[in-house]
Amino acid sequence: MRRILVTSALPYANGAIHLGHLFEHIQTDIFVRFQRMLGNECLYVCADDAHGTATMLLAEREGTSPEALIDRLRGEHAADFRRFHISHDNYHSTHSAENEHYATLIYNRLKEGGHTFTADVEQLYDAERGLFLADRQVRGDCPRCGAADQPGDNCDECGATYDAVELVRPRSVLSDAVPQLRRSEHHFVDLPQFQGFLEDWTASGPVQPEVANKLAEWLDSGLRPWDVSRDAPYFGFPIPDAEGKFFYVWMDAPIGYMASFKNLCDRTTGLDFEDFWLPQSGAEVHHFIGKDIVNFHCLFWPAVLAHAGFRTPTRIHTHGHITVDGKKMSKTRGTFINAGTYLEHLNPEYLRYYFATKMSASVDDMDVNLADFVQRVNTDLVGKVVNIASRSASFIGQRFGGKLSASVADEDLWAEVAGARTALADLYERGDVGRALREVTALADSANRYIAARQPWKAINDPARRDEAHGVCSLGVNIFRALVVYLKPVLPAMAEKAEAFLQVPPLAWEDAATPLLDHAIAPYEPLFTRLDRKALDRVVAATRAEAETQAEAETATTIGMEDFLKVDLRVAQVVAARPVTGADRLLELELDVGDHERRVFAGIRSAYAAEDLVGRLVVLVDNLAPRKMRFGTSEGMVLAASHDDTGVFLLAADSGARPGMRVT
Ligand code: MSP
Ligand code: ZN
Repeated sequence: MRRILVTSALPYANGAIHLGHLFEHIQTDIFVRFQRMLGNECLYVCADDAHGTATMLLAEREGTSPEALIDRLRGEHAADFRRFHISHDNYHSTHSAENEHYATLIYNRLKEGGHTFTADVEQLYDAERGLFLADRQVRGDCPRCGAADQPGDNCDECGATYDAVELVRPRSVLSDAVPQLRRSEHHFVDLPQFQGFLEDWTASGPVQPEVANKLAEWLDSGLRPWDVSRDAPYFGFPIPDAEGKFFYVWMDAPIGYMASFKNLCDRTTGLDFEDFWLPQSGAEVHHFIGKDIVNFHCLFWPAVLAHAGFRTPTRIHTHGHITVDGKKMSKTRGTFINAGTYLEHLNPEYLRYYFATKMSASVDDMDVNLADFVQRVNTDLVGKVVNIASRSASFIGQRFGGKLSASVADEDLWAEVAGARTALADLYERGDVGRALREVTALADSANRYIAARQPWKAINDPARRDEAHGVCSLGVNIFRALVVYLKPVLPAMAEKAEAFLQVPPLAWEDAATPLLDHAIAPYEPLFTRLDRKALDRVVAATRAEAETQAEAETATTIGMEDFLKVDLRVAQVVAARPVTGADRLLELELDVGDHERRVFAGIRSAYAAEDLVGRLVVLVDNLAPRKMRFGTSEGMVLAASHDDTGVFLLAADSGARPGMRVT
């Protein structure tokens, strides 16, 4: 028996589960279920990837804390996967005690081993928000073609790639401030030290040939040190002995695989973390990932593991990306489909089956085509495989007392079907699931041809040929049963229904070797119905509607009274005002709001001297979610009129107004 630990890449905790994630988890789940059917011990863990700036900013936009946001999303993600029959043994979070423990341990071991160093890095900094900007958080004119409003990593117009610091007229996406160049100390893993190790590891066969080629290219052009730290404020784990520094999200994300498994071990008797993760482990570790994250999993991850006293992965299974009807998934076309939207209209096993027909051991992208989706499910699965059961079983029930014959009617045909299990197992093991399904369809074709030629519906009425008809229908049921075994990794719920109909315990892979003889089955009930194209169209329409609602919310030109009333505007009096060191545009204001006080950072320094403001009545947005800035937290916003070149003008209340009065 093999002991196998399997993972899927950890979905980010800042959005819903969509078709792309589902493809990966279904692919992983098929491998896992196949291994379990063989009798191997196979554990499947995953988690949400919770850390990073994106989580922090999303929480802020939603007026909640990162912890509350990631809790909610983890619940939603785990539920979506469960409904798609993804058989995770644990769905954890990278924001967990186990992960902090292993991230810290691994980093400390790398440091003790002399594999880390620190160096100063110059980066764009948003002084107003008090944070360093990632490439995508800066926009400006393309340094190559001059196109306006381009992101900080590459130009959408001319395709040039560049460094964010090269942008002309850069602006922070977060505050619209002009970013400054700032230095700060960063912590690096000295990847070039691992060049030789990685060349050997890559050559030892853990990745597909195309991935090995890509890695060889990277290794030939030389590795660069890996920056694994980020400055506060950052949602992540603090780096030990480094004030204000946090682990970059990609440092602790793969460690999340270990953390999720550790959490499972702590709850499961007989399951031991060390058995799977120490260098001499006889167990296997398999990661399933998309091709966009190969560098993290095939360079950083094995090198980090090996140099921190842990084992390296046995195999990394990389898949390409799915496109829909030839194009990247898109909300406006209705093809960026979320798991939840799909489930409102369709059976999850349709998608499992269709995705499975697309799976191979290659890393090429796969096109998902809606017409093809309907065709594959209805023609191959329902029309061929399920058809064998429906046409054979009714006779067994009605004419033979529900009992299968005592012998096999056609040994050659049975040998063909039962004998396919070795080749099919090999295809599943290699990830060539699409080919396995084509072979299953071919076996179904053979069975249907056989039944059509023997015409049991005629033979059954001829007393001399009654036994023959019984044999043909019984073989039909037995072939169906073998095909259910072969499809069970893909269609677990359908297999469960078939097991009830066949009156057998859960089917294992080797059950395909021996037929059921002289065995009573239950009355047949339809196991699987045809996919209704209209339901699929409703999924696309619903996705498009979601996009429209979102776009409307973002670009709405009018708001309802109920929206306006959500804004709690109050008269406030400036109690104290002072300039903020390090932010030229900001004044810090202390405000009296009647029954409470607020501290606000306002971008009005170009127009007002701090001392002139004390005593003035201003208008405050009192219920704005607090915003963490470098100098402190801003607890609201004071209203001011402004125009780029004509200055900033505070809105004031007439004399007589009292602090705390509601403004409507
Ligand atoms: N959080 C990281 C992974 C950390 S693993 C230690 C991440 N998250 S992700 O949510 O962006 O993507 C998760 C997985 O989904 C990745 O393997 C990615 O390749 C896969 N997919 C996302 N979109 C996809 C498609 N359109 N098609 C197929 N898989 C794709 O990356
Ligand atoms: Zn350009």
